[in-house]
Amino acid sequence: MVALAGRPTQTRLTIETAAIAQDTTTIRSLDWDRDRFDIEFALQNGTTYNSFLIRGEKVALVDTSHEKFRQLYLDTLTGLIDPKTIDYIVISHTEPDHSGLVADVLKLAPQAVVVGAKVAIQFLEGFVHQPFERQLVKSGDRLDLGNGHELEFVSAPNLHWPDTIFTYDHKTGVLYTCDAFGMHYCDDCTYDENLELLDADFRIYYECLMGPNARSVLSAIKRIKELPPIHLIATGHGPLLQHHREELVGRYQEWSQAKAKAEKTVALFYVPEYGVGDRLAQAVAEGIQKTGVVVELVDLSLVEPSEVRELVDIATGVVLGMPPQSKSAEVQAALSTILATVHEKQVFGLFESGGGDDESVYPLRNRFQELGLVEGFSPILLKETPTETTYQLCQEAGTDLGQLMTRDRAIKQMKSLDNDLDKALGRLSGGLYIITARKGEASSAMLASWVSQASLKPLGITIAVAKDRAIESLMHVGDHFVLNVLEEGNYQHLMKHFLKRFAPGADRFAGVKTYAASNGSPILADALAYLECEVISRIETADHWLVYSQVEVGRVSKADSLTAVHHRKVGNHY
Ligand code: FEO
Repeated sequence: MVALAGRPTQTRLTIETAAIAQDTTTIRSLDWDRDRFDIEFALQNGTTYNSFLIRGEKVALVDTSHEKFRQLYLDTLTGLIDPKTIDYIVISHTEPDHSGLVADVLKLAPQAVVVGAKVAIQFLEGFVHQPFERQLVKSGDRLDLGNGHELEFVSAPNLHWPDTIFTYDHKTGVLYTCDAFGMHYCDDCTYDENLELLDADFRIYYECLMGPNARSVLSAIKRIKELPPIHLIATGHGPLLQHHREELVGRYQEWSQAKAKAEKTVALFYVPEYGVGDRLAQAVAEGIQKTGVVVELVDLSLVEPSEVRELVDIATGVVLGMPPQSKSAEVQAALSTILATVHEKQVFGLFESGGGDDESVYPLRNRFQELGLVEGFSPILLKETPTETTYQLCQEAGTDLGQLMTRDRAIKQMKSLDNDLDKALGRLSGGLYIITARKGEASSAMLASWVSQASLKPLGITIAVAKDRAIESLMHVGDHFVLNVLEEGNYQHLMKHFLKRFAPGADRFAGVKTYAASNGSPILADALAYLECEVISRIETADHWLVYSQVEVGRVSKADSLTAVHHRKVGNHY
């Protein structure tokens, strides 16, 4: 195993190479400090981009790396092999964290044939500005590298891009899955030795990237179960799955089956071609999922009309990212099918995809309303390139739509507790607090009363935050926030303000006097006291996140005042 240090130590980019099977080497690009991936996907433990070299009589490179590793990766690759001897570059899918260096590798290895799904090769033509040999593959196709290394391809569309293929090496039993079964986790271990360390990251990765395509996950699992024994799952992110591969594939299956059986689903159609449409769609999807509603993300340009019909027919909600006016015949057909299949009382939401020539949302909005559909959020219009604020708006709009769909369930739950138990639980009381957080351009606030001190050394507190709260996205491990303590007799104005229903993306602090804490979050000027906190861990309950945080700084503004207390009559709601 070799570890090469990156340029300046503070960037903490390193490369690890290791033999993982016969004639097979991994080149893992370790991005120790990456703290963000796509929209609301906060990373606690960095990530890795894994690439693989298989040497039969012919040589195949499976995926490359992120462009931030350009020099390190190319130096490592050329240290391992003369690029002129690479016969094939297998593209599992074309997102830049894996294909960002394909053009660079092709400059060193112009003879290499690029192997990928038809859609992948089409995408690739857009960013590799030089002619290249190509070989299109689909499920069941094989590529013989010699010495027993026969590669078999498995289509796995939507995991998590439409063009994804898996590659199985019949000699070593290694299955290369790129994003699928991966996790954003960076450490020195090549393999998944310690499952406990990986649990949380594996789950959140699934929820963010794979959960919205649960049906596609189940189809892919069915296909890989038809392969001969798999000895190693070589993922594109995080450790390779050797010790717990069956357990972890089983978890994907279990989680996806639960989603596929969900009572309420949203079919979310989008167009990826502008490079932002898919991210906006993911932000909306994430917001919807916070309410416990399952989302099926569907690429409009690839979906078959029969699948559109089936999905829209069973969905409780339909969300659509507007395609370009210059849409292809396939997209036009999909749109017509959506219009012909939607039905009364379904909830809908529309958003522009950011291409500049999107179809107008209004004719479709009018049509949906005429057909008796209910709008879950006002159309999201894009006037400029999306920023973090735009993604926050999309997420909050998704949550609004999900809450509308689950309103009946929430009311039913409110009425479901036994009367005596309900009243007894209501005798638990808490203080009244406002949590405030700012992270980059995103900010949020929430009234809280389920707050309790939880440790002395170090000083720590827990807060129970409902899963569908907007601020939940800003309270992941490592995030900072302020707990503002409200003052008895002087809190009504703040409580009234923060209990308002805010429109998606609305500034929670408009008209409220604040100043910045040293951790960047707003302190309410009228608070009795404040505590600056850092999130250390989270425990998931059925409907809340129990967030344990350490308290770093605190101050009281009036020594003799008391904390406002929240007395309740019943325990089955706040
Ligand atoms: Fe890891 Fe979909 O890129």
